[in-house]
Amino acid sequence: MINIALCIYSAVKLKLIMQKIVIFFTLIQTFSVLGTADLEVGFYQDSCPNTEQIVRSTMEQHYSADLKIAPAILRLHFHDCFVRGCDGSVLISSSSSEKTSPFNAGLSGFEVIDDAKNRLESGCPGIVSCADILALAARDAVSLTGGPSWEVATGRRDGSVSSALDTFNLPTPFDSVAVLKQKFLAKGLSAQDLVTLTGAHTIGRAECRLVSYRLYNYTGKGDVDPSINTNFANILSMQCPRKGSGRNLIPMDTGSPDVFDSTFFFNVVQGNGVLESDQKILDDMSTRAYVRTYAGFDQAANSFESAFADAMQKMGGIEVKTGSEGNIRKVCSVLN
Ligand code: HEM
Ligand SMILES: *[C@@H]1O[C@H](CO)[C@@H](O)[C@H](O)[C@H]1NC(C)=O
Repeated sequence: MINIALCIYSAVKLKLIMQKIVIFFTLIQTFSVLGTADLEVGFYQDSCPNTEQIVRSTMEQHYSADLKIAPAILRLHFHDCFVRGCDGSVLISSSSSEKTSPFNAGLSGFEVIDDAKNRLESGCPGIVSCADILALAARDAVSLTGGPSWEVATGRRDGSVSSALDTFNLPTPFDSVAVLKQKFLAKGLSAQDLVTLTGAHTIGRAECRLVSYRLYNYTGKGDVDPSINTNFANILSMQCPRKGSGRNLIPMDTGSPDVFDSTFFFNVVQGNGVLESDQKILDDMSTRAYVRTYAGFDQAANSFESAFADAMQKMGGIEVKTGSEGNIRKVCSVLN
């Protein structure tokens, strides 16, 4: 009798414990749902309705003073997203922050983001993240140079860590296509995304030091990279003379470095790619077809611009912090 009573008692108790466990996990789930959220188009519609116009007019102003702002901002967004996600970590100025890494050499345009942030802070203090400003500005950079536009989902929160040690995720022009694919895949981006996003090199410039080895000492025997078109190697040698400064900047899309178009891919198909990594996406079987399509060599209508818009939306969502994660920085170059 006592045994049966005990047994019922412990069964009831067990049931209660089980219910508590269920409630506990439900609560945890609820809290984590509160902590994270999806990005959404028009996130600042109520809290700071002029956000997108303010970023746009800031970009327009800086761009009309210096066309080089557009490629600079586009590259900045990419380097932000590939390290700790699109969280503004690339913008931090400190002795060991991301921007001090050799992988980030040559980044510029920081002052444009700071300017947009100042303007936004005066109307809506503490509302708009630096990561969102950068994502919006990158979209504007592409449309200002004649490329496509797209809706930028917002609601990113700023990160509180920026370390040069994290920047090894970034691709380099010396990486093989296999390594580049790996680095993109690790961020949820496909081989096609790799090709599409490399098309960003339709605008902007690279330093001669990243190109000269292809012209003068490719395998250490004083030879030329055989994948460079011979005529183009002569042109590059004039732009980057053997004894010239490695710091000289040359266009990556010869012919139209300030216009966002698909001639970059046409150049690559001709052997006129400037960076070794740009040229190598033509050799690899998993990337070659995309290069040819975007160059206009296939039957299909040239789909580069719409693919680029899609891929940028994908890139802009890499490992984003939302909801109650991260924070909203007061000054984009300084952690709160
Ligand atoms: C596929 C791997 C990539 C590699 C290896 C690579 C490498 C480089 C290098 C070496 C430069 C020249 C930097 C300098 O000399 O200062 C450069 C410039 C640039 N990159 Fe990339 N990049 C890659 C992908 C991307 C992506 C995905 C984007 C954006 C969506 C991008 C946007 C740019 C832009 C716009 C510039 C010109 C910057 C300027 O003129 O200020 N790149 N990239
Ligand atoms: C070419 O590269 C080799 C091997 O890295 C090096 O020993 C040689 O000094 C280089 N030559 C020139 C002209 O830079």
